[in-house]
Amino acid sequence: MGHCLSGARRFTAIFSLLRFPPTTSRSLKCLIPHRAQFTSRSSIMASTSLPASVAALSLQSTDQRSEIPGCFPTLNPMDIYREHIATEISKNLGVPVEKIYARVAWTNTLDKGDLSLPVASLQIKKNPAELASEVAANFPASDLIHPPTALGPHVQFFCKPQPLRNTVLGRILKEKAAYGTNGNQGQKDPSDPSKGQKKIIIEFSSPNIAKPFHAGHLRSTIIGGFLANIYTVMGWNVIKMNYLGDWGKQYGLLANGFKYFGNEDALVKDPINHLFDVYVKVNALVSEQDGPIKELKEQIKTKKEKSEDVAELEAQLAKLVDVSEDEKARRYFKSMEDGEPEALALWRKFRELSIEKYKQTYARLNIDFDVYSGESQIKSESMTDAYKLMEKAGVSESSEGAVIVDFTKHGAKKLGKAIIVRKDGTPLYLTRDIGAITERDDEYHFDKMIYVVASQQDLHLAQLFKVTELMGHKDLASRCQHINFGMVRGMSTRKGTVKFLDDILRDVVMKKNDVKYAQVEDPVKTADTLGITSVMVQDMTGKRVNGYDFNLDAMTSFEGDTGPYLQYAHARLCSMTRKSELDVNELVNANFDLLTEQHAVDLVRLLAQWPDVLLNTAKTLEPITVLSYLFRMTHMLSSSYDVLKVIGSEPDVKQARMALYASARQVLNNGMRVLGLNPVERM
Ligand code: ARG
Repeated sequence: MGHCLSGARRFTAIFSLLRFPPTTSRSLKCLIPHRAQFTSRSSIMASTSLPASVAALSLQSTDQRSEIPGCFPTLNPMDIYREHIATEISKNLGVPVEKIYARVAWTNTLDKGDLSLPVASLQIKKNPAELASEVAANFPASDLIHPPTALGPHVQFFCKPQPLRNTVLGRILKEKAAYGTNGNQGQKDPSDPSKGQKKIIIEFSSPNIAKPFHAGHLRSTIIGGFLANIYTVMGWNVIKMNYLGDWGKQYGLLANGFKYFGNEDALVKDPINHLFDVYVKVNALVSEQDGPIKELKEQIKTKKEKSEDVAELEAQLAKLVDVSEDEKARRYFKSMEDGEPEALALWRKFRELSIEKYKQTYARLNIDFDVYSGESQIKSESMTDAYKLMEKAGVSESSEGAVIVDFTKHGAKKLGKAIIVRKDGTPLYLTRDIGAITERDDEYHFDKMIYVVASQQDLHLAQLFKVTELMGHKDLASRCQHINFGMVRGMSTRKGTVKFLDDILRDVVMKKNDVKYAQVEDPVKTADTLGITSVMVQDMTGKRVNGYDFNLDAMTSFEGDTGPYLQYAHARLCSMTRKSELDVNELVNANFDLLTEQHAVDLVRLLAQWPDVLLNTAKTLEPITVLSYLFRMTHMLSSSYDVLKVIGSEPDVKQARMALYASARQVLNNGMRVLGLNPVERM
């Protein structure tokens, strides 16, 4: 066996990843060697004045290699076991060790073993049940695992408690926040780390300035933040990008509306809500004017049908249209497109103030973007280049003065037709995305790009990727992925309209505020954190594709698998640590062999799975993969407290049990952080 438990020479580099806010559109990132403590980012954040610091994630990687590709025994305890199992079975069956390694799977429940091998996957011509019995019977005596057992076509492996306990608890208490992470996963070339990390762009949240931040944006924000964390702890270079809806005729409308209804002070104080108010008021004007215009149009139509003279009515209509807000907005937007400085200055002010406000709210969710891009940022050359490519490739065609792509003619029946250039020569939402995808490729040379957007836009993204492919960028299209999600139903708040994330969070936080947090230093902050946790955990419960009902009562309850329950479990472990009055830095020297009770053994087995859970999550890209693991653990914890008491036990037993609980707290904390939650220490 390549790595024996006690003797493994471990070389593990631990980094703390710290993200700086972008100074330009590109972000600065720093890898700080050694575990630096960054509890506050106030010095760097001063310019943006974020109310809460965005917690950094830790990452560890290794330069110690196993002969098996993808196997990292120094980072993942279960790899010690997989390597051992694969090596022994390989000797016995003559199947390559890496093939067996890849098929030794984790189990969903501990009664099925710690690892399991479905022998049919080895593609040996033999009855699987017979083969399983044979493999189990021929497995040599081992210090690490009990003699394996065959169950149908599976061979089940149970770890011996003592070595597992020592490895797992020892590692968690040493590696702390880095336990479970694996920086080697994100290497461009695992055999040559000097080639660097793979780069991923995750585009998420992407609200529209001056329009409500709806449930789709909320989910995109939560899921996108989670995905950014997963890729980060897997060693990728992650670029978090917000693609704002910040361009179009509606900004002309908004700018004009601001002249009538706007107020500088209100804008600076609360840009999002103020701009939204302006937007609502000016839209009311538009609908008011729409009535008479429509009426005239009707009259003209009927007169024309009777071949009557319509010259006067048409003159009247032209006058009405000319002074209408809609037309003014069109003209204003035209001047923006033409680069008129004054028009652009006002728009830029709206955009910048809104971004400042967004940043503060995102910080409450532990999210900071590296890039605020947006529809406005796409160069017209990128779009023109795209038209040319499409034309050259015979993908686009003209239709009634517009340029369209008819996907049905290009082997994609389901995608229908899409307009690329309007009759008046202006680009559309899709057109900008086509420009954006190539711009991003040129600028970032990413290995992968993920769009986190609601299922309602499945067609849009499928069209985007298909056009990209048809234009001749097949490779680029293959590096892009749409991560979609279902709808949230019934998200209204007591105060009515949801305008921004703050409105969504307000009621939930108010609800949490009702509870008295007597022990807590800063009850308002705790209520805020609990409220946010409630919303996020409800969102992450269930698969992404499923929608759910926004249910204030259910999500804020302490009963069931909720956010508050998770926070409570964490706070309880913290409280236990405080009450024990033990030195946490000494826990790693505890005598783990005293942890012989079944509850302790099982808890260790579950903690051993965390690195595998993270790996699996990097495949499923589902927050529920992490969440359901954490709930399994917290359930197990709550049934352990009566059996494995800390307070009142003999000193050495007390220290050993505290080491176990401290390890559980660490893994719970690591898991919550990956989900984007801020674990509380008291409540
Ligand atoms: N702003 C858009 C909306 O609110 C979402 C943008 C999604 N991303 C993209 N690249 N199209 O609907």
